[in-house]
Amino acid sequence: MTASKQPSAAGGPAPRAAQSAAPRPPAAVGAAAASRLADEELYERSIGEPEDYWSERAAAALSWDTPWERVVDCDFAAGSASPSYAGWFAGGKLNAAYNCIDRHVAGGLGERRSLVFAAADGGIEEFTYADLLAATTRFANVLKSRGVVAGDRVILYLPMIPELPIAMLACARLGAVHAVVFAGFSSQALGARIDAWGARVVVTSEAGWRGGPAPGLKGEVDRALAAGSSVETVVVVARRADGDEDHARLVAGRDLWWHEAVAAAGMAAPCACEPLAATAPLFILSTSGSAGAPKGVVHAVGGYLLYAAETFRHVFAPGEGDVHFCAADIGWITGHTYLVYGPLAVGATTLLYEGAPGRPQPDRLADLIVSQGVTSLYTTPAVVHAFTAAGRGWAAAHPMPGVKIVATVGDPLSSEAWDWCRSQFGAGCPVLDTWWQTETGGILLTPWRSETGEPLAGSRPYFGVAPLVLRNDGRPADVLERGNLCLAQPWPGMMTGIWCDADNVARFRASYFARFPGLYYTGDQAYIDEDGRFHIEGSSDDDVWVLGERLSSVEVERALLSDAKVVETAVVGCPDPVKGEGICCYVVLRDDVEPSDALREKLAQHVGEVIGPFAVPDRVHFVAALPRTRSGKMIRRILRKIAEGDPTDLGDTTMLADPSIVTDLVHETRPQTTQAEARR
Ligand code: PRX
Repeated sequence: MTASKQPSAAGGPAPRAAQSAAPRPPAAVGAAAASRLADEELYERSIGEPEDYWSERAAAALSWDTPWERVVDCDFAAGSASPSYAGWFAGGKLNAAYNCIDRHVAGGLGERRSLVFAAADGGIEEFTYADLLAATTRFANVLKSRGVVAGDRVILYLPMIPELPIAMLACARLGAVHAVVFAGFSSQALGARIDAWGARVVVTSEAGWRGGPAPGLKGEVDRALAAGSSVETVVVVARRADGDEDHARLVAGRDLWWHEAVAAAGMAAPCACEPLAATAPLFILSTSGSAGAPKGVVHAVGGYLLYAAETFRHVFAPGEGDVHFCAADIGWITGHTYLVYGPLAVGATTLLYEGAPGRPQPDRLADLIVSQGVTSLYTTPAVVHAFTAAGRGWAAAHPMPGVKIVATVGDPLSSEAWDWCRSQFGAGCPVLDTWWQTETGGILLTPWRSETGEPLAGSRPYFGVAPLVLRNDGRPADVLERGNLCLAQPWPGMMTGIWCDADNVARFRASYFARFPGLYYTGDQAYIDEDGRFHIEGSSDDDVWVLGERLSSVEVERALLSDAKVVETAVVGCPDPVKGEGICCYVVLRDDVEPSDALREKLAQHVGEVIGPFAVPDRVHFVAALPRTRSGKMIRRILRKIAEGDPTDLGDTTMLADPSIVTDLVHETRPQTTQAEARR
């Protein structure tokens, strides 16, 4: 295991070398070096001649109804958020459902498995590409019969069941804009999205599944619509919670059962794929963690689909007979891109699991991976941590040798988790810490396949992606100096806007292009190492200011995780009368470790030794779990509020995989003698 080199804080010590975002010449020899050289050449070409590069890729990867006239119409320097921003492949027309299904069937792959559904009760249902074509055609006909046309918004408020991707692709077939709302959201959050996006149809199910049957999705819809809305049709999947005797009540004239609607006369008739402008919206999606006022990120058909297909193929390298498993919820972008659109666009087989990862036990996921012959896994560090927490005995009993590629997203992957993956999955299995955002549509930073043998050696930009790290004053950060991660060139997966509220353009510009003019600002902190590789240090919002020093919470978390007793941790600032902000750590210990004040003190001292005395945490709280969404994303906002001593105003917590853990967090955050006080 090698520790990554530690960066200096932004604006820190004098320059050691000029920043270089471009990859350096390879040090390795042999096949890996040759492959790395090929990667480098391709990368340089993608940056130097982006229009040629993406034009070639778009022609090779997708089927078009009408060729495009302009490759990209988006100049960051000129203010890409101007109303004239037309995005990628303007003038071109295509259909996402055609590209994900019909063309594979037409090309002779109708009998290949497209979707494998693993139900929470252990049942398995398989869909070939021909089955998926039939199912999406039927549902597209249902939507059409209810008056849905291209451009209409359809809200999909569904658990992780096949009807969700089927409904997404049915919308795509018609050119309707789907907006998946995570099934854990309450009626209030759902209603806010229905209103903001002017939805015409809502598709839901009677019950959901959130680590256990969660009745009442349909009830949430009824409550969301009670005050009146734009919704004319609600389609309900009959799926009751165990023990629930009664079916949900349908509202006459508005509601219909999915199973009845798709079986109705005429619904099996062919339904043409609508040729859509490449720049037309494919879907709207909220960024994860945003519960109240929805910020509806918009992705367009052409650029998004190309980027999803290309990055999926590059990172997961699907081969004949392979099975890809993305363990994220489709309610978030990871599920959109790497469970649905990326795999299907390239004709791969994708596994959909109804339950939450790690529940009821990590065994369920491990068994699924083995029994379904999963060959590539996309998950979060949180899921890997749940595996590691189960202990060595468990690991020995659950080898997963068939997995050839593992990638994670959402949080930094610890080196312990990296090591664990290397030993648990197939021999030499690359373990890739990938970085991207809802807004970016697909992976932007990933280790290159030609250099994946080193633990957490940092990531390279994907082809056509031009990242750089800036100091707060806009000058380039030095090598190893932490700064603001920005993007200098547009890439096809880039969001095309925020779903029209009146201030769409202004909000888009203010959010992403105002901080560093001419650049897309990611809001994340990163540094570049001597090899030109990028290391993500978390969101700028996650910094803690201690005695005027800016400290990355990721750095403290990394230090805590280097103690083998710690499985997971989250660090936030808390008010401190002396220092301005104190360091508050929430720590999940391995199952077999007893929490104690002595351990608290030991961990605090350990952080001080790793980072420096100023970083010794003020509070260490042992907790059973951290507040994460079902896709594994940590919601620090909740921890910050609790650490600030304001647990009465946590906002909407329904997006959490397990909202009940909040009580435990509040309880464990009761005043304790701070580590600093104890030492005084
Ligand atoms: O702060 C970064 C963090 O997750 C944010 C994006 O969140 P979201 O839009 O919900 O999309 C999540 C899935 C794509 C980023 O701005 N993040 C993502 N990947 C990593 C990460 N932080 C550290 N390391 C990562 N690999």
